[in-house]
Amino acid sequence: MDPLLTFLCLLLLCPGLVAAAAPSCSQNVNISGGTFTLSHGWAPGSLLIYSCPQGSYPSPATRLCKSNGRWQTPGSIRRSARLVKAVCKPVRCPAPVTFENGVYTPRLGSYPVGGNLTFECEDGFTLRGSPVRHCRPNGMWDGETAVCDNGADHCPNPGTSVGAVRTGSRFDLGYKVSYRCSSNLVLTGSAERECQSNGVWSGTEPICRQPYSYDFPEDVAPALGTSLSHLLGATNPNQKRKEKLARRIQIQRSGHLNLYLLLDASQSVSEENFKIFRDSASLMVDRIFSFDININVAIITFASRPKIIMSVLNDKSQDMTEVATSLENLNYQDHENGTGTNIYEALNSVYIMMNNQMQRLGIGTVAWQEIRHAIILLTDGKSNIGGSPKPAIDNIIELLKIKPDRNDYLDIYAIGVGKLDVDWKELNELGSKKDGERHAFILQDTQALQQVFEHMLDVSKLTDTICGVGNMSANASDQERTPWHVTFKPKHQETCRGTLISDQWVLTAAHCFHQAANSSFWRVNVGDPNSQWGKEFLVEKAIIPPGFDAHAKKEQGILEFYGDDIALLKLAQRVKMSSHARPICLPCTMEANMALRKPQGSTCQDHEKELLNQQSIPAHFVALNGNKLNINLKTGKQRTSCIQVVSQDKKTFPNLTDVTQVVTDQFLCSGMPGDANICKGESGGAVFLERRFRFFQVGVVSWGLYNPCSGTTNKNTRKKAPPGVPPPRDFHINLFRLQPWLREHLEGVLNFLPL
Ligand SMILES: *[C@@H]1O[C@H](CO)[C@@H](O)[C@H](O)[C@H]1NC(C)=O
Ligand SMILES: *[C@@H]1O[C@H](CO)[C@@H](O)[C@H](O)[C@H]1NC(C)=O
Ligand SMILES: *[C@@H]1O[C@H](CO)[C@@H](O)[C@H](O)[C@H]1NC(C)=O
Ligand SMILES: *[C@@H]1O[C@H](CO)[C@@H](O)[C@H](O)[C@H]1NC(C)=O
Ligand SMILES: *[C@@H]1O[C@H](CO)[C@@H](O)[C@H](O)[C@H]1NC(C)=O
Ligand SMILES: *[C@@H]1O[C@H](CO)[C@@H](O)[C@H](O)[C@H]1NC(C)=O
Ligand SMILES: *[C@@H]1O[C@H](CO)[C@@H](O)[C@H](O)[C@H]1NC(C)=O
Repeated sequence: MDPLLTFLCLLLLCPGLVAAAAPSCSQNVNISGGTFTLSHGWAPGSLLIYSCPQGSYPSPATRLCKSNGRWQTPGSIRRSARLVKAVCKPVRCPAPVTFENGVYTPRLGSYPVGGNLTFECEDGFTLRGSPVRHCRPNGMWDGETAVCDNGADHCPNPGTSVGAVRTGSRFDLGYKVSYRCSSNLVLTGSAERECQSNGVWSGTEPICRQPYSYDFPEDVAPALGTSLSHLLGATNPNQKRKEKLARRIQIQRSGHLNLYLLLDASQSVSEENFKIFRDSASLMVDRIFSFDININVAIITFASRPKIIMSVLNDKSQDMTEVATSLENLNYQDHENGTGTNIYEALNSVYIMMNNQMQRLGIGTVAWQEIRHAIILLTDGKSNIGGSPKPAIDNIIELLKIKPDRNDYLDIYAIGVGKLDVDWKELNELGSKKDGERHAFILQDTQALQQVFEHMLDVSKLTDTICGVGNMSANASDQERTPWHVTFKPKHQETCRGTLISDQWVLTAAHCFHQAANSSFWRVNVGDPNSQWGKEFLVEKAIIPPGFDAHAKKEQGILEFYGDDIALLKLAQRVKMSSHARPICLPCTMEANMALRKPQGSTCQDHEKELLNQQSIPAHFVALNGNKLNINLKTGKQRTSCIQVVSQDKKTFPNLTDVTQVVTDQFLCSGMPGDANICKGESGGAVFLERRFRFFQVGVVSWGLYNPCSGTTNKNTRKKAPPGVPPPRDFHINLFRLQPWLREHLEGVLNFLPL
């Protein structure tokens, strides 16, 4: 290098090169079977993170390059000059220490991934929990702790989870049990629990985990949810059901939510993981704003000191765009000079923020007291300065007057995301411990966090007609994912599908009906959380465009024609809104405008530009079996080639010279290779898109060239189209083209934007 350049570098320009001048660490740190990343190359201060394929874990997990050019391996006591070789070790699940009043098989010291444990009870005892458990690739047993209980006491036998040792064997009111973990397992949950007057144990079930274990979303979901079975003790008939279980982040119209996102930017987190934290935070912000609720979002990054990026006292914290922009601009380098992790200070800054807001609103005011607070800490849990974070949490609890009746007003989640070497014990200290719930998690990626976040939200109080809100959890039922979806059977006809567009109106296809049919026989089946079969509604009236006539173009050699294939049904009663029944958003309405977060004064044309914005638009429809299937709607040139093949259907369209005679501009086209095709009974259903976690209907399923369900009665079988002419295509009524008709009949039901 040019000597002058070197000199400039030393002064200010090239900090990386300056570091290179210091002794660098040795490169012989390979891990057999795994890989590693370095935060700052081989220079001092660089953090090395190992990773291994699923089913194995790295040992050691990390190393730090010290200023003397030596690697430091955390937890290693020997000051040996030789570097311990890193290896990928197979994951094992822990073994039970004891199993009261029963036996388990097989008896091993630990269990390989895929291994099973079977539990059986002695006579006189009933088994609660899972009789067979499987060892999962994350080192955790699936299912729930098996307990042999005779139901003799006030509280059910709390059992002893795998790997734990329990002290205390009386389960009457006021008695306590305590737990510790065997060998080097780490306890998460409550180390002590008390039998409460309501017959429920306080706190969260203690689970002993391998230090390297992490969570799968499907394991976390039940812990966040309503799974009370192991708390209530099905074997004890005298058990009183707990009135109300405080839990999860409540999404509701009235009241107010403060969401505090705390992102750990300390050295042990590494820049790569910090980016995962930032993406995870963006995703949570996007999702929570999608409910149009009163919310303020605070953003704090921290290492040795916290940095407040957005305060709840700032008006901008209510604005989705402002919050999203602040998150995008987060900078790991903001904390480059602070190498410590001070979780206490970070939480204390939340406390101060809350205190200031309380002063501003007035201590006794409803405005202050109705605010719910959710704190989400994205961290590796390794706080090394500032002392225990607990006093800060205690201050917050006191400030918010959190007592059993106000448990709903504070939730603290401690979450590790990414390939982190997480301190489980610390993470567990941070999370709230509410009855039967877990608030500390380690997840492998942002996608896993998205799944878990979906379960952290409690939408049971969201009872108004907010449009286009579906449950995005992989674990949600089909109806919860597409709650607008309805089915009905006009008499003596095949079934059809339709869509709730308000709490009393259903949009569907005209060809489902015979002009002469008597609507008093029709029944519309709407989703119902209390019944897997849904709830039936009578139809007050049906509106079918007078122009709809499948035979209108017979004279021109077009044997079937589906122009104006649209219909509206008014239900005899209003539908009660729930997680299973909610309208979809219809574009060109004020409701959709809010959901799209478009400015006031937007037009129908703006919505079309936003939703049908490319030549191939990913969209969905609901299949006969309830699954959401994927298609691509074609516009422009791609639409031209999509519709072209219609002329090859000589049976229905002999002598066709101009395909636009059949496929008028009222139709959207899909069904090209890669798309699902549409079955006959799926007519009338919605063709819909997702934007920012909300759903918008752009089409009504009308007709197609191929029926993948023909010749089968099994709803789960769809046959691929055989090669030949014509290739499959599907056509859907384009709602942007039928605006005048929709406006004529839905005046006063929906609020339309100018065209
Ligand atoms: C470590 O592994 C890489 C790729 O597998 C190899 O190129 C390199 O020579 C190895 N280094 C040492 C010091 O063994
Ligand atoms: C564990 O049980 C599952 C099914 O319950 C079985 O497929 C698997 O082979 C069993 N594994 C072992 C190691 O026995
Ligand atoms: C989630 O789905 C898995 C299977 O995919 C199931 O075992 C588990 O019980 C479900 N959890 C909840 C809360 O529905
Ligand atoms: C870190 O310290 C250096 C030298 O004191 C200073 O120039 C830089 O601005 C500091 N960085 C931050 C983010 O405070
Ligand atoms: C989604 O469904 C799951 C499972 O039923 C539920 O626990 C969760 O709260 C729901 N989330 C939302 C946002 O509706
Ligand atoms: C439809 O059927 C009901 C019950 O059979 C009958 O009362 C009604 O008059 C019918 N309406 C029409 C338009 O035919
Ligand atoms: C198609 O054209 C042929 C010959 O031009 C004619 O005989 C036939 O009637 C036409 N078919 C229809 C359905 O119009």
